[in-house]
Amino acid sequence: MSNPSLLILPGDGIGKEVMAEVRRIIEWFGDKRSLTFDVSEDLVGGAAYDVHGTPLHDDTMAKAQEVDAVLLGAVGGPDYDNLDFSVKPERGLLRLRKEMDLFANLRPAQCFDALADFSSLKRDIVSGLDIMIVRELTSGSYFGEPRGIFEEDGQRVGINTQRYTEAEIDRVARSAFELARRRNNRVVSMEKANVMESGILWREVMEKVHQEYQDVELSHMYADNGAMQLVRAPKQFDVIVTDNLFGDILSDCAAMLTGSLGMLPSASLGAPMENGRPKAMYEPVHGSAPDIAGQGKANPSACILSFAMALRYSFDAGEEATRLETAVEKVLADGVRTADLMQTEEAQPVSTSQMGDAILAALDASL
Ligand code: IPM
Ligand code: MG
Repeated sequence: MSNPSLLILPGDGIGKEVMAEVRRIIEWFGDKRSLTFDVSEDLVGGAAYDVHGTPLHDDTMAKAQEVDAVLLGAVGGPDYDNLDFSVKPERGLLRLRKEMDLFANLRPAQCFDALADFSSLKRDIVSGLDIMIVRELTSGSYFGEPRGIFEEDGQRVGINTQRYTEAEIDRVARSAFELARRRNNRVVSMEKANVMESGILWREVMEKVHQEYQDVELSHMYADNGAMQLVRAPKQFDVIVTDNLFGDILSDCAAMLTGSLGMLPSASLGAPMENGRPKAMYEPVHGSAPDIAGQGKANPSACILSFAMALRYSFDAGEEATRLETAVEKVLADGVRTADLMQTEEAQPVSTSQMGDAILAALDASL
């Protein structure tokens, strides 16, 4: 059988630096665990725009459809702020999500004990935090039609449409219930059924799908209350399932509870392919961080942990995923810190590649 294939899209800013460390980790698994991947690399975002005049070339899109999993760094940067909306770096990312039909975006928010004091919340509120946000990623107000800026009665009006079909809600509901079964069996669904029809339908479909998952506890929360509960008592949650826009906002909120965006991975999953693996793209939650790009300051952990999610969700290698996650945790516990993980200026932070070295050393030690 041929090796599983990976398409690496480092993108812009720190995406390139953090992905370089992920490549070393991928090689380690080939050398030491006989988990060998066929790796190819291509451009996305501003980097693609610079070469092709588009944030995602059709050939790259076609490759993404063929591989077993895509690993993406980050897109965007100040050089591209004034580009036409249709060719902004973000459009490349959104096209990948939409055309691969990656409807379930898994965003874990886990608080590493060594970092609990970095949270803006008190240690006892966040220590041990382990929640999973399942964000619908291919529909809702990000893609609904009509959309645009139109003339109406002599003035311009900006329009986006919140739109969900039953089938779209049904499939993300199943993803959330399935995940909850592998965790603590609790799902909280968030919408605004008090003001939005799409929210009423969302709640109804959640209830309907729940009939098939009676072993999982389902409850509903208005998304604004959900935001409040996330900062009041985040440990009440196990799995949260919500739409595209609420999920964008709530996942940033949940992420920051953990103290650093530099630690958080994500997985975007679609329907199973012919080989049984889901269509999948893995990316860190953080952005391209243009302010520190190219300086070797970025924390590669979120991108490395995204590869761990790939091992678990695409390659059925849960034990190896845990090995990698444990290595990252050990490095943190040992006090190794990139600049984003330091509160004072006194100590000396490690560089991106030194963080990679430390994680590789911890992996070696795990054998
Ligand atoms: C995210 C980001 C993206 C989004 C942007 C970069 C298009 O904020 O992945 O959360 O809004 O989905
Ligand atoms: Mg976001």
